Amino acid sequence: MLFWHFIIYGIAIVFVIFIFFFCVVLRIIRRYYHFPIPAVLTRVIDNPWRRRFIQKPRVVADRLKLEPGMIVVEIGPGKGNYTKAFAERVLPNGKVYAVDISESIIEYLKKRVEEEEIPNIIPKIDNAHNFSFADESVDRVIAIACLPEIPEPVRVLKEIRRILKPDGLLSLSELAPDPDYPRRKTVKQWTNEAGFILQSEYGNWFVYQINFCKS
Ligand SMILES: C[S@@+](CC[C@H](N)C(=O)[O-])C[C@H]1O[C@@H](n2cnc3c(N)ncnc32)[C@H](O)[C@@H]1O
Repeated sequence: MLFWHFIIYGIAIVFVIFIFFFCVVLRIIRRYYHFPIPAVLTRVIDNPWRRRFIQKPRVVADRLKLEPGMIVVEIGPGKGNYTKAFAERVLPNGKVYAVDISESIIEYLKKRVEEEEIPNIIPKIDNAHNFSFADESVDRVIAIACLPEIPEPVRVLKEIRRILKPDGLLSLSELAPDPDYPRRKTVKQWTNEAGFILQSEYGNWFVYQINFCKS
């Protein structure tokens, strides 16, 4: 009996230390040092629990008003579970460019796309400060738990504005356990500075999604 108490308390203590490290220590470190989150951590963030109870890929996709044929760019696609939900909705003829600065993220996604034979996800190394996409060539740009990780977010937003079509939509989602989590007020301030207009918003303080249009 004592043995099981020891095990249960042990697990609870490790869990609390992990949460404390993730939500407090990492947040303080990242306030002063900006570096891309290691690929392995993005795999921890994208877990079945989150996808089932906190941020369902289908719900995120529903709010984007995706249509067949659309061109979508997802910045920082992680394991690609959200990317898949977007890709299904733009078929036929639509494409989702899953872009990331990290080679290992893109290599992982390339393998997954090949194994699962997903025809319209294109993993691509690209830098959000200087996209390779032409002006006004994209219908949707999506960034989930990603924008605040990238230095100079307003510069990134201006670059997104450049590649979005005049009737295009930008969708930003954030969730509180992310060490880079910004408040909605901060995100609205950034987007306002970059010339975006609020279109719709969903969620609560813990997890939210805000859509913006160009004009
Ligand atoms: C926290 S992860 C994304 C998590 C994922 N969207 C999810 O919800 O599970 C942020 C990603 O942004 C990428 N990133 C950082 N700086 C970037 C840049 N300048 N251009 C493109 N991607 C960048 C990182 O490599 C990382 O994979």
